[in-house]
Amino acid sequence: MMDWTDRHCRIIHRLMSRRARLYTEMVTAQAVIRGDRQRLIGFDAFEHPVALQLGGNDPVLLAEAARIGADFGYDEINLNCGCPSDRVQGGAFGACLMREPDLVGDCVAAMKAAVSIPVTVKCRIGVDDQDPEAALDALTAAVRAAGVDALTVHARKAWLQGLSPKENREVPPLDYERAYRLKDANPDLVVTINGGIRAPEEWSGHLVRLDGVMIGREAYQNPEILLQVDPLLFGEAAPVADAFAMLEALEPHIAAHLERGGRLHAFTRHLVGLFPGQRGARLFRRHLAEHCVSAEAGLADLRAAAGHVSRYEEAAVAAA
Ligand SMILES: Cc1cc2nc3c(=O)[nH]c(=O)nc-3n(C[C@H](O)[C@H](O)[C@H](O)COP(=O)(O)O)c2cc1C
Repeated sequence: MMDWTDRHCRIIHRLMSRRARLYTEMVTAQAVIRGDRQRLIGFDAFEHPVALQLGGNDPVLLAEAARIGADFGYDEINLNCGCPSDRVQGGAFGACLMREPDLVGDCVAAMKAAVSIPVTVKCRIGVDDQDPEAALDALTAAVRAAGVDALTVHARKAWLQGLSPKENREVPPLDYERAYRLKDANPDLVVTINGGIRAPEEWSGHLVRLDGVMIGREAYQNPEILLQVDPLLFGEAAPVADAFAMLEALEPHIAAHLERGGRLHAFTRHLVGLFPGQRGARLFRRHLAEHCVSAEAGLADLRAAAGHVSRYEEAAVAAA
């Protein structure tokens, strides 16, 4: 997610689930090819498994960017066919590609030919006045013919005129049944669902019908739900017991970042959703905002922020 799931955020998320697949922000193929690669797509080996999401509509450029991503060590290359922003519409990629299934097929075929890691697509169920049955079937047929390894369906349309990207994540109605029908019609295709999925209790319901669940905003705004991924979905213990343990495990990553001249804020800006509803959470957030932003801020400031939250109360709630 743009501006959210940068490499620092992904470390935080990885500390709470060994198994969840993490995705980069969308990076355009042109930027990967011509831009500052380390800044744009550099990542820490600790983040694996991690997918690079590309934006673009030119098979040649996407193939080149995919190859660069694979050389960087990414585990998957994902093509964005769902973003409705003006900038993306200006470049005729993202959600606009729902209208161009043949071109998307060409893009996937070129990317598949360039790399040996999985190539996947994230799409909507349609745009504007498209019929979601026909639009999603056409896109699926094209990418299947090109050898796509998986499809993630954000189960609502994008309305390209008149809605902001934020509204396009909220206003067009969700239609999970459309994604289920797609899977029923394509039983051998890996289909993952996305859109409005929050509580862990919802995950298993989707997994009865589909192969995976992609969680966007809830994972960012309430990252502790990630502690439930490994136990619930993989039958394995979570890597850490709670958010306090996560913050302790995060310290060496922050220390290395500070050592390289980075700022504490690069990590702490992704921590405001920790400790939801717990006593002291507001003071934690306030401490992050007031003491963890400056260039001099260090680990002691983060520890002090966490010190506002009562561990004892958490234990008491767990025992109740
Ligand atoms: C701040 C923000 C940035 C996003 N950036 C991307 C992006 O770069 N690529 C993408 O495929 N989706 C992006 N999305 C959309 C989410 O991946 C997801 O499809 C959408 O939020 C619906 O899922 P959710 O209800 O679980 O959040 C973004 C969403 C938000 C809130």
